[in-house]
This record gives sequence, C-alpha cells and structure tokens, in this order.
Amino acid sequence: MTAAAAARLSDLGRAADEGGEVVGVEHLGGGLVELSVRLPHLAAAARPGEFAQLRCGPPPLPLLRRPFSVAWVDGEVCAFVFEPVGEGTRRLAALRAGDPLQSLGPLGTGFTLPARGRVVCVAGGLGCAPFPLAARRARQAGAAEVVVLNGAASAERLYPAERLSRGDPGIRVVEATDDGSRGHRGHVTDLVTGELGGAAVLWACGPNPMLVALAAVLGGAGVALPPVVEASLEAPMGCGFGTCLGCALPVRDGAGGRFALCCREGPVMPVDAVDWEALAALPPAHVA
Ligand SMILES: Cc1cc2nc3c(=O)[nH]c(=O)nc-3n(C[C@H](O)[C@H](O)[C@H](O)COP(=O)(O)OP(=O)(O)OC[C@H]3O[C@@H](n4cnc5c(N)ncnc54)[C@H](O)[C@@H]3O)c2cc1C
Ligand code: FES
Repeated sequence: MTAAAAARLSDLGRAADEGGEVVGVEHLGGGLVELSVRLPHLAAAARPGEFAQLRCGPPPLPLLRRPFSVAWVDGEVCAFVFEPVGEGTRRLAALRAGDPLQSLGPLGTGFTLPARGRVVCVAGGLGCAPFPLAARRARQAGAAEVVVLNGAASAERLYPAERLSRGDPGIRVVEATDDGSRGHRGHVTDLVTGELGGAAVLWACGPNPMLVALAAVLGGAGVALPPVVEASLEAPMGCGFGTCLGCALPVRDGAGGRFALCCREGPVMPVDAVDWEALAALPPAHVA
C-alpha cells in the first residue's frame, strides 16, 4: 500500500445541536442495545459513517457527550447500536420511550459511496453500527451488491443479519464468530480476501486492533484491492468537532507522519492514510 495523507475534513456547517425524543430502546441478545430517537435534522443530514455526539445524562455527569455512529434512518427517526460498557452507555440503555435526548451531529467524515459494482463491508463487534445505513445508501447509489462480513465473539453478540439487510436481497450478510457458535469459526478478517475479487469498495469498522489486523491482511492479500478502501477508526472523543484535540491518531503524510483529529479527518479514513504500526502502539483509550 502507498503512503497518503488523510485530507478530507468534516463539514461542521451540517451539524446541529438538536433535542430529540426517544422512540424505543430494544435490548437485543448478547448485551446489544438499539436505541431509536426522533431527530429530524440528524435523520435528514446524516451520511453513512458519520456520527452524533449524544448527551447521555443531565449535567454534570457524564460531563462529555459520547460519539455513536448513525446506524439507520427511517423518516425522522435515527437509530444507534451500542453495548453498555460505562456510565454513558449505561444511561442510554436505561432510557425509555418519550425521554428527551440531546444530539450534536452529523459529525465526522463518511464513507465514499460507489456509483456501481460490489461493496464489501467488514464489521467487527460494535463496528456493525454504521452498516445498516451504509449498505442501504450504497444500494441506492447504484451498488449491484453489498456483502457485509459481520464478526463477533459469539452468536448472541452478532447484530442480527436481517437488521443489516433490512429486507434488501442485494445485501448479503456473512457471519463469523470467535467461538464458532455461528458462521465461520475465527476472525471476520479471515473472510476478506475471498470477497475482494471485483469489489469496487471496501469499508471497515471495528475496534482498532481489528482494523490493524485487517490492514495487515490487505497488505498481504496478493490480489488487487478495490479503488476505495476505507476504515472507520475510534479514538477517545471530547468535543467531536476539533477543539479539544483529544482524538489524535497517527497518519502517514508523504514520506513522514503526523497526527490527525479523528473527529475532523475521520472517523472514516482511507486505509493507506493511517499509520497502523503507530496506531497499534498507542495505549488503550481512556474517556472522562
Ligand atoms: C466516531 C465514533 C463512533 C462510535 N460509534 C459507536 C457505536 O455506534 N456504537 C458503540 O457501541 N460505540 C461506538 N463508539 C464508541 C463509544 O463512543 C464508546 O463506547 C462510548 O463513548 C463509551 O462511553 P461510556 O461512558 O459508556 O464508557 P466510558 O466509561 O467512557 O468508557 C468505558 C470503556 O470504553 C472505553 N472507550 C470509551 N470510548 C472509547 C472510544 N471512543 N474508543 C475506544 N474505547 C473507548 C474506555 O476507555 C473504557 O475502557 C464510537 C466511537 C467513536 C469515536
Ligand atoms: S474530539 Fe475534540 S478534537 Fe476531536
């Protein structure tokens, strides 16, 4: 892969601070939660891969909003998929229909939509979150087929295939589980090389270690990579719009390197723009 700088910047002019109303909170198996919220601005403006900063509780805590991918949009309603892992997500999971929820978005850069051809999506764990919307928009843009390679630790932790395809026979879901309880036994990255032939686009989203592994697979795939290969990265985020400088990630820039703000130049970046070796060496995220 060649070195390249991540150059796109998010368009902050499209973001709005918006008061929404919770429509539903569904507790899926394996701890996954799908939260749907009436947010007319976000629903109209969000593009696949973009995120919203959700205020998870009344001030003062949690102090910072938390970033979540827009999972799907239906009319004025947006959905988010997550797992309660800390204070913010526990509060979101405890919401009830009719509760208020404040959203700032859409934020970040989205995936590049194809005009035709096949799209391969690689999802690890909660990295499935952007793909219901992304797959649907790719099909609307002209993609002949979207294949979602969806991996999780076990069957109960897989986001349901029918929620990824949403009734579109042109969206195919292939599953992998670490323990072999459904689909391929092993990592979702094992499935990537077999799906690359003729693909126009590859999108990936998952924990950074999975993306590091994917970059290594792509580097040694031995087959032509699609013209567009993009990954949605994670970093601890404070503001979500470029002022706190808390979300810096190492990227390549010509022969050298620099740090890019994940919230402005990402979260979606070309895979060859990221310095995967430096990313793998970063300490685990810590968020206040
Ligand atoms: C652009 C973007 C989009 C995201 N979309 C989703 C999504 O759709 N669904 C989803 O479940 N999660 C998503 N995340 C991660 C999500 O924002 C965090 O899990 C959430 O902020 C945790 O908040 P908390 O208060 O529950 O946990 P905290 O108490 O803040 O943290 C709990 C644990 O999670 C770790 N953590 C928190 N934030 C991050 C992060 N950004 N990256 C890596 N580790 C983190 C902490 O270090 C800690 O170990 C996204 C992150 C980013 C940057
Ligand atoms: S989250 Fe504040 S600069 Fe990126």
